[in-house]
Amino acid sequence: MKIKVTDSPARLSQVATDVLAVAVAEGKLFTPRGSVLDRSLGGLLSRVLRKEEIKGKVGETRLVDTPSCPILLVGIGDPKKFDSEVARKIAARVVRTGDRLKACHVTIEDLPIPSKMTPEQLGKNLAEGAVLGQYAFHKYKSEKNPTRTVETLILHSSRKAGVAKGVQTGIIVAQATNLARDLINTPATDMTPRRMAEEARRIGRLPRLSVKIYDRRQIQRMGMGCYLAVASGSVEPPYFVHLVYRPAGKPRKKIALVGKGVTFDSGGLSLKTAQSMETMKDDMSGAAAMLGVMQALSVLRPPVEVHGISAITENMPSGSADKPGDIATSMNGKTVEILNTDAEGRLTLADALAYAQKQKPDLMIDVATLTGACVIALGELCSAIMGNHEKLIQTVIACGLEAGEKIWELPLIEEYKDDLKSPIADLKNIGGRWGGCINGGLFLQEFVNPKVPWAHIDIAGPSWTEKELDYSPRGGTGFGVRTLLNFLLSL
Ligand code: BES
Ligand code: ZN
Ligand code: ZN
Repeated sequence: MKIKVTDSPARLSQVATDVLAVAVAEGKLFTPRGSVLDRSLGGLLSRVLRKEEIKGKVGETRLVDTPSCPILLVGIGDPKKFDSEVARKIAARVVRTGDRLKACHVTIEDLPIPSKMTPEQLGKNLAEGAVLGQYAFHKYKSEKNPTRTVETLILHSSRKAGVAKGVQTGIIVAQATNLARDLINTPATDMTPRRMAEEARRIGRLPRLSVKIYDRRQIQRMGMGCYLAVASGSVEPPYFVHLVYRPAGKPRKKIALVGKGVTFDSGGLSLKTAQSMETMKDDMSGAAAMLGVMQALSVLRPPVEVHGISAITENMPSGSADKPGDIATSMNGKTVEILNTDAEGRLTLADALAYAQKQKPDLMIDVATLTGACVIALGELCSAIMGNHEKLIQTVIACGLEAGEKIWELPLIEEYKDDLKSPIADLKNIGGRWGGCINGGLFLQEFVNPKVPWAHIDIAGPSWTEKELDYSPRGGTGFGVRTLLNFLLSL
């Protein structure tokens, strides 16, 4: 889909589009242009509104036929609450409705820009909503992409330059998210560690990026025993990925992003139930988000150096698999008693975080589908954040809010660390009965130098959706890409 930004033509008859979307808030037309159109239609739109055929709740729509082109009234809710997320939702709704109507060109009439939003932000959010809203995963359907018809979205705007600039960013961000979604949605037998590494290699060839990929022998040489223990049960070899984005000038900061990359989590010998395994191809969502971010950086080019790191592997049961009771030694020398092979994410991350630290970053953020307990605590729409640096945590939460991604802080409660003690190793990989999400964070903290600001985001809930959301179909959501890009663009 292409997105164009133009002035509103003086007359409705001059608008060349298959559908023209006009915003409605609290039963009234939300844009000054709406009233002009209404008058030229002899009050047709206000008659529809008077009959209360549409009240104006966010995303509510009503199609009105006119002699020129169909007008789609779209609710934007309370105008005081018109924010980035509402902009995304309505753009997605307009494009999806356009697809349903088999329209080729759809137009959104000039929207008043709230005082808290710049024209650039409005353009970015509308573009994100449109491109994310049109996403569908059709790779495995015999009928190719039957539902996408909208080719052009036209944004009418009196602030063309700003809006158009934002649109460019929004498209890049949304495409990065859709890349993450494709990687997650692809079945695990196809999206193997090797395939993920190939994707990293492709991204590493983009301008301003470079990539290093380590195979099993090199992983052994680096002493990543915890990671290797997880990989030992699989016939698919593990690959450790290290991408680097370098800005043109001297970087303002060096950031390490670490993503959990378990391409399939069967639980290993601590086997999951059939039902909880159904969606475990999504256990590489953290790595997918990292790859999406790195791809976007090549174009968005913020003045910071970014290291994208992932210890990619499957977690499978077999004769060569790691066994409950095994002890593995991580790259930083700590020994871990593996009592549950299903708590594998933290083992791969332990080595990935230890490696990330060697790059001497100013700060580190890891993103991981780490615990089912996180989904119990915060539900399917919200991720958890923990870390050793309150300012970093609050900044990431704020970037998430702007991105439409919910993040809630959980405390790393010192006392719970006792439960991670092992009588025969430095640590065990599971904690006490309760607070599983926090226990995961506490385990990772053991592999982080307290002097390096670090945040851990557990995305086990929102990385995947069973229900269709406003701008995501069932499947991988690409959660994290937008928050992380907002964060990197804010430094
Ligand atoms: N990949 C899972 C976590 C998960 C669960 C992600 C549900 C998405 C949805 C992780 O590797 C896991 O299995 N964690 C265990 C940890 C436990 C054994 C300490 C869990 O949450 O049960
Ligand atoms: Zn697991
Ligand atoms: Zn897992």
